[in-house]
Amino acid sequence: MTAPAVLDRADLHASLADPALLSMNFLNEVAGRFPEAVSFAPGRPTEDLFDPADLHRYLDTYRRHLAEHKGYDEARVRRELFQYGRTKGIVHELIARQLEQDEGITVDPEAIVVTVGAQEALWLVLRALRASERDVVLAVDPAYVGLTGAARLVDLPVRPVHEGPRGVRPEDVLERIREVRAAGERPRALYLVPDFSNPSGHSMDVPTRHRLLEIAAQEDILLLEDNPYGFFQAAESGRPPTLKALDTGQRVVYLGSLAKTCFPGARMGFAVADQRVTGPEETLLADELSRAKSMVTVNTSPVSQALVGGMLLEHGGSLLHANRRQIGIYRRNLGCLLQGLHRRFAELPGVRWNTPAGGFFVVLTVPFPVTDELLEHAAVQHGVLFTPMRHFSDNDRTLRQLRLSCSSLTPDQIETGLDRLAALIAECTSTPGA
Ligand SMILES: Cc1ncc(COP(=O)(O)O)c(C=O)c1O
Repeated sequence: MTAPAVLDRADLHASLADPALLSMNFLNEVAGRFPEAVSFAPGRPTEDLFDPADLHRYLDTYRRHLAEHKGYDEARVRRELFQYGRTKGIVHELIARQLEQDEGITVDPEAIVVTVGAQEALWLVLRALRASERDVVLAVDPAYVGLTGAARLVDLPVRPVHEGPRGVRPEDVLERIREVRAAGERPRALYLVPDFSNPSGHSMDVPTRHRLLEIAAQEDILLLEDNPYGFFQAAESGRPPTLKALDTGQRVVYLGSLAKTCFPGARMGFAVADQRVTGPEETLLADELSRAKSMVTVNTSPVSQALVGGMLLEHGGSLLHANRRQIGIYRRNLGCLLQGLHRRFAELPGVRWNTPAGGFFVVLTVPFPVTDELLEHAAVQHGVLFTPMRHFSDNDRTLRQLRLSCSSLTPDQIETGLDRLAALIAECTSTPGA
């Protein structure tokens, strides 16, 4: 008998042992062990409106669209839905129409790559931008762990630009770009979530958006705009324009996720990459991403694309329209969470939180360290889960912070969860022996 293969971690890619890559699995594993806990941890969409019957109808709506509007015969419809397909995707025209309608983003459908979630889009862009050892990506910090992990996988260092209490300051971005250059590195892009960021909940005002576009042009970098939460405003007031809608110089690569606006099970996202790429032949960045994609996922499942396509068609091409009820639920939940925090903690020294204008996340600051051990303790002793902000940043400021997500809870669960959190905070702040 030959000895079974044993691999040493040191002989595998270094990213696999990186905290960013361990983070998601750790958090999922804790949540899996405590199914009875009230979980403020995951940024999942509400399940209240999912209906399996919709899946059949969406598929059929898209099938009819192919036959009746695109004029495909039966064989072509079958091929489109069952076969390998176009690497850049088959619902690119519908996505371009949705962006025009909902976001005022005008883009050639050829500049869109339909991906397996926004996560794949992010990975493809980082892979493409990492040309040499000098290349780095800047990221607003604290940052979504999916960015940090994807960057590690492609050996692209992440240089943080720390957010202040009101979000990131453009002049800090400029300073960081200059520092990075002075250290001999080449900043390729700044990653940011301008609307109701994950994890901080912050949003950028319009002057900040304009200034960041100016800085990107002046410093010759790209902006990687990740926008999963932009629809979920807490108030009826007008939404600020996305960076991509303001982008007249192809500075912005827009990363779209359909996980929150359609459903995560479809694993659908996209990149809008309309930058010209020069060389022996002129292409769009989207075409370069497509080359990389052809060697990773080959093409995004046409069945998933058809489901999302059908959903779009049933709502006149608008995801904003498709999400009317979801927007109401998230608005209600964020209101419950913020009011519940106020009722319990307004008078408590050292406990404070931000008040995002929408989205899924609120950051709570407490007067004690929020570690993974504390999370386990909270789960075992108090039946409540959250995400330590440490998972999103190395900055010491996040040591005493936790992220609360309210998107997949009911108002009653939010109240119960906050009572449990209050018990944990009382325990951690009570003086021993007092
Ligand atoms: C900021 C941000 N970007 C990207 C993603 C990943 O999106 P997808 O599920 O489409 O891959 C998430 C998911 O939570 C997110 O919060």
